[in-house]
Amino acid sequence: MSLIGPPPLSSNPLAVMLDDVRKERAATVPYPPGDLSFSLRRASQIAKDPLPALLDAYERHGPIFTLRILHSRIVFMIGAEANHFILLSNAKRFIWREGHFRELTALLGDGLLTIDGDFHRRSRRIMLPAFHREQIEGSVATIVTEAGRAIERLQPGERFDFFAWTRRLALRVAMRAIFGLDPDGELARSVDAAALFPQALSFYSHGPLPRMLRGPGSPWSRMQRARSELNRLIYGEIARRRASGERGLDVLSLLLDARDEDGAAFSDRQVRDEVMTLLFAGHDTTTATLSFMFYELARNPDLQAPLRAEQEAVLGGGATRRLPAAADLNGNGLPQLEMVLEETLRKYPPAWIGPRRSVEPFEFAGHTVPAHAYVNYSSWVTHHLPELYPEPERFDPERFTAERKAALPRGAYVPFGGGSRTCIGMRFGQVEIRAIASMLLAHCALELPEGFELRIREAPTIGPRGLPMRVCDPPRAPARVGRLDAGGPAGAERLAA
Ligand code: HEM
Repeated sequence: MSLIGPPPLSSNPLAVMLDDVRKERAATVPYPPGDLSFSLRRASQIAKDPLPALLDAYERHGPIFTLRILHSRIVFMIGAEANHFILLSNAKRFIWREGHFRELTALLGDGLLTIDGDFHRRSRRIMLPAFHREQIEGSVATIVTEAGRAIERLQPGERFDFFAWTRRLALRVAMRAIFGLDPDGELARSVDAAALFPQALSFYSHGPLPRMLRGPGSPWSRMQRARSELNRLIYGEIARRRASGERGLDVLSLLLDARDEDGAAFSDRQVRDEVMTLLFAGHDTTTATLSFMFYELARNPDLQAPLRAEQEAVLGGGATRRLPAAADLNGNGLPQLEMVLEETLRKYPPAWIGPRRSVEPFEFAGHTVPAHAYVNYSSWVTHHLPELYPEPERFDPERFTAERKAALPRGAYVPFGGGSRTCIGMRFGQVEIRAIASMLLAHCALELPEGFELRIREAPTIGPRGLPMRVCDPPRAPARVGRLDAGGPAGAERLAA
């Protein structure tokens, strides 16, 4: 018996538009006030540079407002209380699937991110064991091995695109830890996932009008081509594993044999959708976070000294440095690095917007919202409210000392969402970022080209539009990534292998 998934969503943009208009007209209560006139300028501002546009709307209208973006009214709920309302206290009033990012189903299918209700609950329950602490500790060896290989290739003086380098590394980690696939094996080498994911995801950074085109050469058809190639990889591995019975410690193995409380299993398509979702969510967000972290460290060299001192104190220095082990990477082992990570996720939360649709009318902060309204929360905007984070543009890890963190109101810091939809890969992502950051810090210092200006793309997650970096000479010769025989994680594979 297979789990029953949701009915497919229409990918016909005209049908979606008509349905939106029909639902808007059927509203039984008013939308919250806001900017309601039709404005191409507003639509383009929100598409190109949403943070200032949304902060401005928040200042003028308060924590809940409506913006007309092309044909539809979109409600934004901003601030700590709004986040808590959507994610926890009133989560049942919202669905994800028909929200603003519904087009993600065209690439990801019906994986955990894009499903709701009972199917979401049952799927999440099946998948949770793959993200338990012990399971993640088992992945540390894979992460450290892959990071070590990538980092040791960086030579003093080398110029490279940090974002592309990190994406390749994060995908290799995801391929092995989530998918159980050797990234150097025949199947993986025949499909260049590190090129195909950006090709597929670039569809979402186009404006609404190009996204509506469907002919050859359109962003849609490029996304579909990348999707079929990625499908070839994923379905190929599913078929191979089903036929051979081969299983490992990866998430795919768990998905193939999983049964829920009623004995229902995932079909091949459902396994594919979960794997595609995890590969996307599992590499795109970590890639962006590491990129923003090292961008800020390169811009603020003063922040590097305490980080390097901590590395040396905990992991040793020079030739005796050991590799980070699971206990170093649990969030308590390297507190300076942790504050830098938390501040990075404050200033640049990759999953910056939480798209939802209301299932029934509700009230918030004295305003009503009708059923079927597009409603978004935004970690990025909340994390830039000066009343919560004074001088929000300043990168200041000291905001995340234990005392200051405890003083934040609930809902003020939500880089991983919250409630029943909290990021399932949170621990995995944090461990991966801490490990790669720790090993990079030990190996080299990185600098930005003079005059470099960061440009951010916003869809579907925020990330830099390229991040050129130069490897400086190693900070302290003979600083190394770490010795594998000097107390690294149990079972770590040899970098030299
Ligand atoms: C820095 C790293 C990461 C960040 C900042 C992040 C952020 C988020 C956020 C904010 C959500 C909730 C979105 C919403 O409320 O609409 C989410 C959901 C999700 N994330 Fe992550 N994520 C990260 C890493 C990962 C990793 C490594 C994986 C997988 C290995 C992953 C898989 C997922 C999945 C499957 C969901 C959907 C969960 C559900 O709805 O039940 N994420 N993530």
